[in-house]
Amino acid sequence: SEADKGTYPHYMLKEIDDQPTVMRKLAQTYFNDDGQVTIDDELLADLQSADRLYIVAAGTSYHAGLVGERLFERLAAVPTEAHVSSEFAYNSPILSKHPFFIFLSQSGETADSREVLTEVNAKGYHSLTITNVQNSTLSREATYTMLLNAGPEIAVASTKAYTAQIAVEAIIAKALGEATQQVAAADFDLRPQLGLVANGIQALVDQKERFEAVAKDNFVDQRDAFYIGRGIDYAVSLEASLKLKEITYIHSEGVAAGELKHGPIALIESGTPVIGIITQERTASLTRSNLAETAARGSHIMTIVTKSLAKAHDDIILEDVDEMLTPLLTIIPAQLISYYTSLLKGLDVDKPRNLAKSVTVQ
Ligand code: G6P
Repeated sequence: SEADKGTYPHYMLKEIDDQPTVMRKLAQTYFNDDGQVTIDDELLADLQSADRLYIVAAGTSYHAGLVGERLFERLAAVPTEAHVSSEFAYNSPILSKHPFFIFLSQSGETADSREVLTEVNAKGYHSLTITNVQNSTLSREATYTMLLNAGPEIAVASTKAYTAQIAVEAIIAKALGEATQQVAAADFDLRPQLGLVANGIQALVDQKERFEAVAKDNFVDQRDAFYIGRGIDYAVSLEASLKLKEITYIHSEGVAAGELKHGPIALIESGTPVIGIITQERTASLTRSNLAETAARGSHIMTIVTKSLAKAHDDIILEDVDEMLTPLLTIIPAQLISYYTSLLKGLDVDKPRNLAKSVTVQ
């Protein structure tokens, strides 16, 4: 069955390796033969009448929502806010006049998110659930559903659902932006880009020994680790750091690169890994200086950089893809480093302590 890990030692590794296939599958599912992006007409009309999008999610799905916030604002020019569902439920923001809600949930069962959806329905607002599980609670209770088509995700630490969620958000943002005549959406060549992304992921998962070596040399013996970035790279830093803490139990933070100096830099000790994610031309040199500031205090710095911005001393170089889609590549090294660190520490990679795959209590 699809949920079989086959010859893989762990589901997590299989699910990391599934990602190129998932990207190609999404390119097939949501584009027609003419290469046009296609989503449900009524959903598109509802999205067009919204004056603000509210993305509600938990954990890794929330981190995919933070990337979505940027995709919807840049491609569709619609104000978008990503929220943690457990906060939204009891400390909700003042809503716009015509809100539309997007629930991101791999399982479609997270109680915190369901709590918000129940309230959204009670108020008569419309919503979309993006989920990996057909007929899940959140997909049944929302106005619309879109599927991730990522295949079953068994490992507690989410990998392919995160990249699939971002790809689906990009698909919706493009459809919406095209419907409202946004130049950015028309120029965003998403279908071929998803092919480039699939190839870029493949190039990374083909270098497993390399990430295993990084895990062994720079992570296994560490107490703390930091991922830093700006903008969309900051959003990925949060997810990269979550992957590490979930399965290696190393204390880890994703930090907005410019905020390091306001606190986190105090935690830098000799050898503390600080990984800089650098994919945006506008802020690349700023993030590089922030990395250098930690190196001056003894950190071990590493960089994850797209080819066009790479310099001779960079560590992990990624294929160039559209600036909006770089999270689909930058997260992969972090997934693999976390996997190998957990493995080398002898931990239960697929079932880390204290965590559950889906959390059905508030
Ligand atoms: C749990 C899982 C995470 C997941 C989160 C949200 O905490 O361990 O991997 O990101 O729930 O789950 P959902 O199914 O709503 O995406």
